[in-house]
Amino acid sequence: MSIVNLKDVGYDVNISNHFTKKILKKINFIAHPGEFHAIIGPSGCGKTTLLNIIGSLLKPSTGSVELFEKDITNFSEKNIHKIRKNIGYIFQSVYIPKNMSVFEYLIFFAELSGLEPNKAIETSNSFLKEFNLQTLQYKKSDILSGGEKQLVSLLSILISDPQLILLDEPTGSVDYEHKLRIWESIKSLCKTNKTIIVVSHDKKILEYADYTHLLNYGEIFQQKK
Ligand SMILES: Nc1ncnc2c1ncn2[C@@H]1O[C@H](COP(=O)(O)OP(=O)(O)OP(=O)(O)O)[C@@H](O)[C@H]1O
Ligand SMILES: [Mg+2]
Repeated sequence: MSIVNLKDVGYDVNISNHFTKKILKKINFIAHPGEFHAIIGPSGCGKTTLLNIIGSLLKPSTGSVELFEKDITNFSEKNIHKIRKNIGYIFQSVYIPKNMSVFEYLIFFAELSGLEPNKAIETSNSFLKEFNLQTLQYKKSDILSGGEKQLVSLLSILISDPQLILLDEPTGSVDYEHKLRIWESIKSLCKTNKTIIVVSHDKKILEYADYTHLLNYGEIFQQKK
């Protein structure tokens, strides 16, 4: 069973009436349960665009997208939400509502995933402890650093426990020690059969990913199996 299956996916943008830029060309990409895929490539090569297509946020200009073995290429917004509840996504720029504390944010995600309030508090506490981030618990989002926001956002994904996890530069602003912990915990998710797709410039990812794909000039090349 495939979790993601892209067939000949292309993505074009109209720069002017006379010029169309081909950001992605004929991308073929397949991911199964328990696999950790890394997508690397220079700035502006289309990594975020590709992740947005996989995450059902953008429709491809050509080709087809299957998620969980359903062709969603022409799905309506109404039908797409059933698919989206199985996806966790950390965006390149993390957003946490302004007046929310870290603890409130994590509890919110725990409740969204179906936990009762007491269990949601308990789970949020244990994740903060596991990552040694208790000092952030009552901090409001507007005083968090970029790296702290990324860590909190990652915890919210771990708490939500989706089948498919998409991460766009999850360690971009994080210190070395937390980076290693992030890659370790992402890797351990594969043992629970999750599918992880990460876009990153962090070379460390090459040691953890099962498959590395290089994106360049709109085309994708698999480097390692
Ligand atoms: N709607 C759009 N209109 C015009 N150009 C776009 C549009 N969306 C993306 N692009 C261009 O497509 C290219 C790929 O963008 P994308 O954000 O996917 O790159 P990236 O590989 O994630 O880069 P980075 O590593 O810097 O995050 C860039 O040159 C960007 O400017
Ligand atoms: Mg990007």
